[in-house]
Amino acid sequence: MSFNIAIDGPAGAGKSTIARRAAEELGFMYVDTGAMYRTIALYLLRSGTDMEDEKKLRLALDHMNISIDYQDGVQQMYLNGENVTGLIRTEEVSCMSSRSSAKPPVREKLLKLQRDLAARYNVIMDGRDIGTVILPEAQLKVYLTASVEERARRRCRELLEKGENADLSEIEKDIRERDYRDMHRKTAPLKIAEDAVYVDSSDMTINEVIGRITELARKRMGSADEG
Ligand code: DC
Repeated sequence: MSFNIAIDGPAGAGKSTIARRAAEELGFMYVDTGAMYRTIALYLLRSGTDMEDEKKLRLALDHMNISIDYQDGVQQMYLNGENVTGLIRTEEVSCMSSRSSAKPPVREKLLKLQRDLAARYNVIMDGRDIGTVILPEAQLKVYLTASVEERARRRCRELLEKGENADLSEIEKDIRERDYRDMHRKTAPLKIAEDAVYVDSSDMTINEVIGRITELARKRMGSADEG
């Protein structure tokens, strides 16, 4: 049986960096589910689909094929055969993915893909509903968060390092709005699974968080072997 680690939490908590590096250390596959929602968002933007019309949304999704593979350990996203990995990190796609991921047909489309990966491989999967909806039986669940202010500062630094413009108060406002949408949507809202380990990374380094998660995983893998 595969060993599954679910990492959920709000935008900008460092989930993907931490999950990717913890997966490397443990020899697990890292699955970034946000990238899947972003790929669907890109498709909806390109096709100009009216998301509010459920019939049209379902029809559009029927014409969309999404798949992943790995190149040098980095997850690649394919949309109808096209590698769109480099196109899904824009603010436009972020904003669209936050809205479209609230739609049940979008979530249904990804549920099977995510469960199939977790059944076949040892995975660290990060997202919003992994521990609560997608993998309720995951052997380890982590809820990773940080204060809004700290997440905004980190995002701001990232943008400045890339040579892009960044306005801290705008970013903070965006994060608050995204948190609200992710936590208050009807379908699969972001919440803490009852059996999740709560990690607030506001005052922790990346290495400290990775150490915490890999230690928890190793302990649980050990007890799974004994049992
Ligand atoms: O983690 P991210 O910023 O790449 O996610 C993009 C959007 O997708 C975000 O607004 C929340 C949504 N999402 C989701 O609803 N469920 C997931 N499992 C992962 C992401």
